[in-house]
This record gives sequence, structure tokens and C-alpha cells, in this order.
Amino acid sequence: MEKKKSSFTGSIGFVLAAAGSAVGLGNIWRFPYLAARDGGGLFLVVYLVLALTFGFALLTSEVAIGRMTGKSPLTAYSELAKGFKPLGVLACLVPMIIMPYYCVIGGWVVKYFLAFVTGAGTATAQDGYFTGFITDTTGPLGMTIVFLLLTMVVVLGGVDKGIERFSKIVMPLLVILIIIISVFALTISDTDELGNVRTGLEGLKVLVVPDFTNITLKSFFTVLMDAMGQLFYSLSIAMGIMVAYGSYMRKEDNMSSAVGQIEIFDTAIAFLAGVMIIPAVYVFMGREGMESSGPGLMFVSLPKVFERMGNAGNFIGALFFALVLFAALTSSVSILEAVVSSFMDQFKINRVKAVIIEGVIALLLGVLVCLGYNKLYFEITLPNGAVAQILDIMDYVSNNLMMPIVAIATCILIGWIIGPQKIIDEVTANGEKFGRRTLYIVMIRFVAPVLLLILLLKAFGII
Ligand code: PHE
Repeated sequence: MEKKKSSFTGSIGFVLAAAGSAVGLGNIWRFPYLAARDGGGLFLVVYLVLALTFGFALLTSEVAIGRMTGKSPLTAYSELAKGFKPLGVLACLVPMIIMPYYCVIGGWVVKYFLAFVTGAGTATAQDGYFTGFITDTTGPLGMTIVFLLLTMVVVLGGVDKGIERFSKIVMPLLVILIIIISVFALTISDTDELGNVRTGLEGLKVLVVPDFTNITLKSFFTVLMDAMGQLFYSLSIAMGIMVAYGSYMRKEDNMSSAVGQIEIFDTAIAFLAGVMIIPAVYVFMGREGMESSGPGLMFVSLPKVFERMGNAGNFIGALFFALVLFAALTSSVSILEAVVSSFMDQFKINRVKAVIIEGVIALLLGVLVCLGYNKLYFEITLPNGAVAQILDIMDYVSNNLMMPIVAIATCILIGWIIGPQKIIDEVTANGEKFGRRTLYIVMIRFVAPVLLLILLLKAFGII
């Protein structure tokens, strides 16, 4: 008799695990920056509209593919249509490429968390601290291993006892932390060198008030593409994760409402991250401070902000890096699970073996990523103009090139080969209604593939 496939114990477990995957570094270090740069409220509106249309269509499709086939990303697509095995391979390769460098960044977070928890947070604000740390040959690797092991322990616990249980503890904590820090950020104020008082509430305006000055068709296009690229990454789509998690969703659970809840969760946390970061950076560093994102924001600018907060800084910094650590862990757990479920399916091995194999692969590539900042240091310029090391190259290849290809192929598979009705049938099989049905069909057949193609061409530097 075939062993019953493990599953989440209910809708809440599924939603929290999937939201845990969606809420990650992207929400914290990229969304606030993009929103502040791309016209504040304008970006928020565009993002929200895209989430409810484009994001909804892709997320629903992936979760439904998972639940319908009950298979992992590597094997699910070819189950639906002959000739789609390469899509499965690609969807499994994306998380395999992301995993090593996500663990390296996770290791940096562990390092900063430990620094703040032990009361030594101010050291991280010194010029050159971050560069000094990542160019070190042993420190970052040690922290990467800690982060990787934590991730492996959760995934070894399985779907219900590992991933679901972990998400149910960590996600509520994450929400509480982000609310505390956001409220604090809105109450701070400081006087700059010229004697002007800057308050957190003024900083909030940069995030929420739509800025229509200088808006042209071209700049609107940029806002649209930025929002779409961000959304795509933020919802963890096109990397097999939602297919894997969908395969663990119970047939009787309501998929439409689960998808809606994941979207709301992810967007609300991204917005709150903005409320937490933008006012603080504005108060202590002015508008110039808002120009950094990614590692520069999190590991260089924010420690300086915490230092300026005085006594409270070390405490708030510790809460902040605990929050980031939670967000990063629930995401890395999902990346690992996408690969592990694929290995289990394809090679008929058990969970322990699959976790160890992928753990070793991630570790070996992770060593390479760490060495990219010292022994193997080089610089190349990517088609999008960014100067890159090994980590950035892996990030670029997976996010900017492979993910849009996976998503376009998924749209073709569903929109034109098996037909959107298959997905609608899966969603409604338990008697629930499929809201936004026409929207879904139009999205998956026409709008999403076209937008994705534009995004891909942009990544290649063609437009
Ligand atoms: N969705 C996550 C974020 O917003 C990122 C992520 C990437 C999660 C890859 C899983 C896998 O940061």
C-alpha cells in the first residue's frame, strides 16, 4: 500500500507556512526602499493591484498544481503534460541555486543578531564593519553553517511536525515584533546639523503619500516593472515552493481564501517593514539615507540608525535582527523543502537522506559564495549594470532569468496546454466558489505571460 503523503493539519498551518515562505528578506530590505523611491503611495497602489491580479493568478496556479498532482516541483509539471519535464527540472534548480546564498545571507543575520543580543550592537555601526566581516575567511562560513543547520532541523521534522509547527510559533512572533518596532519608529524624532527637527511621522509620508511629480509614462513603466519584479520574488512564486506546499494542502481546505490570506499577509508585512524602516532612516539620516537597499540598508545603514537611537538602539536592534532571522528562516525552510520533496519523489529516498544530500550541496556552494568575498574575489558587470560577485551572480541568474522563464512556461502550460479550467476545477472540487474567474483566465493566458516576457527582456538588458 502506498504510504499516505504527509500534509498540513489545516488551513491555518498551510497559510502560515506559505506566508512564512513569502515573508522574507525581500519584504524587509527591498520593498520599503522601492516604495520610497518609486513615488510612495503610487508604488503601493500599483503593487496592490498587481498582487490582486497577477500575483493571485500565479499563486493560485502553483498551489493548485501541487494539490492536484500531489507531487513535488520536479515531478508535478510532467504529470500534467508530456514534454514539461524540463520545466520541473528548472523549477527545482531555482531553489537549489537560491539555497546556498540565502544561507550565507542568513549567516550574516545570525552574526548581527548575536552582536545585538550580547549588547555589542554599536560595533556594527562602525565604518567598514560589514565589509570586514564578509571578507573574513572563517566567520561568515561558520555563521552560514549555523543557519543551514537550523533550517535542516526544521525540515527534518517533516511537514506537520517541522515546518507547520515552526511557522505557527515564529510567524505570530514576527508580527508582534514588527508592530512593536513600527510603533516605536513613528514616535522618534531628531534634530539635524541645521537645527531642523525631523519626525518619524514625516518619514511615514514618504512611504504613503503618492508622489505624482515628474511622473511620465516612462517612469510609470519603471514603477510597474519594479512592483512586478518585487511581487514575484516576494510571493515565492516560480521556484517550486508553492507547488511543494500545495501538494501538502488538504483537499477539503479552501484554496481561494488561503491564497487571499497569503497575499494579504505578505503585503501587510512588506508595508509594515516600510513603516518600521523608512521613518527611522529618515529621522536619523535624511533622504540620502533612503538610497540604500539590500545588504547596504540592513547591514550598514540600519546599524547606524540603531546607534543614533542611544540606549534604546541596542534593544531595538536586537528585536529587529530577531525579526529578520525569523523571516529568513521560514523562507529558507521553504526553499529546502522544495528541493527535498523533489529528491524524495524523483529518487524514492526518505526525508533524512534528501535533507542531508541537499544540505551538503548547499554547504559546498555556500563555501564558494563565502570565498567570493575573499580568496575568489572578482568583479563582473551584469547585463543590468550591477557590479557582481558570486552571490550576486547566483541571485541574478535565479531571480532575473530563471524565475521569469519558469513563470512564463507555467502560464503556457496552464493557459494553453491543459487549460485554466483544470485549475478552476481543482480549486472548486470541494464545493468552494472560484472568485475572480474571468480575471484569472485573462491573466494566466494573456496578461501575465506578456508582462513576464517584458520583465525577462529587461533582465537581459534588451529593453
Ligand atoms: N519570498 C521571499 C522574500 O520576500 C524570498 C524567498 C526567496 C523565499 C526564495 C523563498 C525562496 O524575501
